[in-house]
Amino acid sequence: MDAKRLYMVSLASITLMALTIVIGGLVKAHGAGLACGTDWPHCNGVLIPDLTDRGVLLEYMHRVVGGLAYLTIAYIALTLLRHGERGLASLALAALAAITVQVLLGMAVVRSLLDQYLVAAHLSMAMASLVGATALTVLLRVRATGACRG
Ligand code: HEM
Repeated sequence: MDAKRLYMVSLASITLMALTIVIGGLVKAHGAGLACGTDWPHCNGVLIPDLTDRGVLLEYMHRVVGGLAYLTIAYIALTLLRHGERGLASLALAALAAITVQVLLGMAVVRSLLDQYLVAAHLSMAMASLVGATALTVLLRVRATGACRG
C-alpha cells in the first residue's frame, strides 16, 4: 500500500467534506433545501436534473460533492482493512460510519420536508464527520512521513 497516496486521498476527503459543508450552508441560505423535491437519491425524479435553476444546482452539487467525500472515506477504510492495518482501519471505519449516518440524515431531511430537528442533527453530524476525517488525515500523514514535523 502506498502510504503517501492514501494520505493524498485523505486530504481530498477533508477538502470535499469542507466543500460539502460550505455548499450545505449555501443551500440553507438560499432556501434551496427542497429544490430537488423530496426525492433521494434522485433529484426531481431523475438522476441528473436540469441544472439551470440555481437552487437545484446548489442542492444537487451538495449531494454530489458529499457523495464523492463518502467514496473517498470508504476507499481509505477498505484499503486499510485489506492491508490489516487494524488501528487506523478502526478510525477510518468510525469516520465512514459518521458520514454514512450523515448521508442518511440528509435523505431524512429532504423526505421530512426539512424537519428542524433533523436539520440540526445533519449539521452536528457534519462536524463529527469532519473531525473524524481530519484525525484520520493527521495520522495518515504521520504514517506517510514517519514524523509529525513540518
Ligand atoms: C448526500 C446526501 C445529502 C443530502 C440529501 C443532504 C441534504 C441537505 C439539505 C436539504 C440541506 C438544507 C437544509 C435546509 O435547507 O434547512 C443540507 C444542509 C447541510 N448539509 Fe447536507 N445533505 C447531504 C449530505 C451532506 C454531507 C455528506 C455533509 C457533510 C459532510 C452535509 C452537510 C450539510 C451542512 C453543514 C448543511 C447546512 C446545515 C445548516 O446550516 O443548518 N450534507 N443538506
